[in-house]
Amino acid sequence: MKQEVISFEDIKQFQSRSEQFHPLSWYRDMLLNEPVSYSETSNTWNVFKYKDVKRVLSDYEYFSGEGDRTTTSVKISEDNFSDNKVHTMTLDPPNNRKGRMLLASAFTPRSLTNWEPRINQVAKNLVDQLDADEVIDVVQAISTPMPAIVMSDLLGIPSPDVQLFKNWVDILFLPYKKEEEESIDQKKNIAIQEFFTYLRPIITEKRSNLDDDIISDLIRAEVDGERLNDKEIIEMTMAILGAGIETTSHMISTTFYSLLYDDKNLYTELHTQPELIPNAVEEMLRYRFQMGRRHRTVKKDHELFGVKMKKGDVVIAWMGAANVDEDMFDDPFTLNIHRANNHQHLTFGKGAHFCLGAPLARLELKIVLENFLKKFSKIEAMPSFDLENNLTDAATGQTLTYLPLKATK
Ligand code: HEM
Repeated sequence: MKQEVISFEDIKQFQSRSEQFHPLSWYRDMLLNEPVSYSETSNTWNVFKYKDVKRVLSDYEYFSGEGDRTTTSVKISEDNFSDNKVHTMTLDPPNNRKGRMLLASAFTPRSLTNWEPRINQVAKNLVDQLDADEVIDVVQAISTPMPAIVMSDLLGIPSPDVQLFKNWVDILFLPYKKEEEESIDQKKNIAIQEFFTYLRPIITEKRSNLDDDIISDLIRAEVDGERLNDKEIIEMTMAILGAGIETTSHMISTTFYSLLYDDKNLYTELHTQPELIPNAVEEMLRYRFQMGRRHRTVKKDHELFGVKMKKGDVVIAWMGAANVDEDMFDDPFTLNIHRANNHQHLTFGKGAHFCLGAPLARLELKIVLENFLKKFSKIEAMPSFDLENNLTDAATGQTLTYLPLKATK
C-alpha cells in the first residue's frame, strides 16, 4: 500500500529552522491552550498532553498503526516490499506479534552485553582521531559516522564495505519532499536493488557460518516454527536501518548542542561525576529530542479526549510535547539531569511498538559521552556559530549539519 505522507508544514509553520529545532514555545502554547486540536490544513487531530499521547500510542482498541496516511517522512517505496509479518510498525497487535518477536531476537539484553565492547571500540576510534585545541565538527566527527559504523558492525557487514553501506543508507533514508517525490523514489529504488544484490550473498554465506551479529540472529530466529527467508531478512535489516541511524545521529548531535548551549556547567559536572551519564542520557532524550511525533488512525468513533473523533481520522501524538507536560515533569522546560522521573519520557514511544532499539540508542550515547569525557576535560562553543544556517530538514525535524566546538585535554 502506498501511503500518503502528512507534511509537517501543513500542521505548523515555524518562523525559522531554529524555532522548529526546539519548538518549546509552541508546545507550551498547545499544552496550555489547545491540548487536543484539529488542523484543517493537514486534516489531522493533534494531541499534546502526556497522558493523551501515551493513550494514542498504546491503546489499540481505538488507535491503529495501520492506515494510509503516515508521519514517517523517510519512506521507502513500498513497491519492492512484501505485505507480510516483517512490517511490525504498521501492524496492530496481535498481527505484529510474530514479526516483533522475530525482530526482538536480535535485540536481547545478551546481545547488548556482547555489543558493548564493539560499540566502545567504534567510539574510541572516532574520539582518538580528534585533537585538542582544534575546531571539531561533532556532526562530521561523531554523530554521522558513529551510528552507521555501529550498525554495519552489528549487522555483520564486512568492514571494508562500510562506506558503500553508508552511501546506500544515505539514499534510502533521504527525507520525503513533496516536490521531489518522483526523483527521490527513483534514487531509492536503485539503492534498494543494489542493497538487495549486495546483501543476498552475505546472508547465504552466514547461513552456513552463523556468527555473533544481527543478521545471524535473524537467521536463527524462530517463532511458532516459522523462520525468516532471505528477502524478509533484508527487509528487516532495512527497517532497522530506517529506524535506527538518523534518529541516533540526531540524538548525539542534539546532546552536544545541549552541553554547549543549554547548560555550560554540565560537561564539567559529567567529567567529575561520570556516574551521572545514564541519567543525563535520559534527560537529553526528554528535553532535546524534540520533534518526536507518531501517527495513528482512529479505529472507531469515540469521544475520549472531550472531542468527537471519527473512524478513519488521523491523530498525531506529539511525544516532544508530552515530554514537557508539567502534569508529568516538574519545571519541564528546564534541562535537569538530576530529574528522578526523566526515564518516563515518551521519546521511544509506548506500548506494542515501543522502540526495539531503545537500549542500543541509549548505550551508544552513553559510550560516546564516556569516551569524549575521558579524553577531554572541557569543551567550548565557537562564538561564530550560527544555528539557523546549520540546520536541515530531516525525519527527526530540523537536524544539525555542523556543530563546531573546541575541546581541552
Ligand atoms: C534516539 C534514537 C531512537 C528513537 C528516538 C527511536 C524512536 C522510536 C519510536 C518513537 C518508535 C515507536 C513507533 C510507533 O509507536 O509508531 C520506534 C520503533 C522502533 N525502533 Fe526506534 N528509535 C531510536 C533508535 C532505534 C534504533 C537504534 C533501532 C535499531 C537499531 C530502532 C529500531 C526500532 C524498531 C525496529 C521499531 C519498531 C518496533 C515495532 O514496531 O514493534 N530504533 N523507535
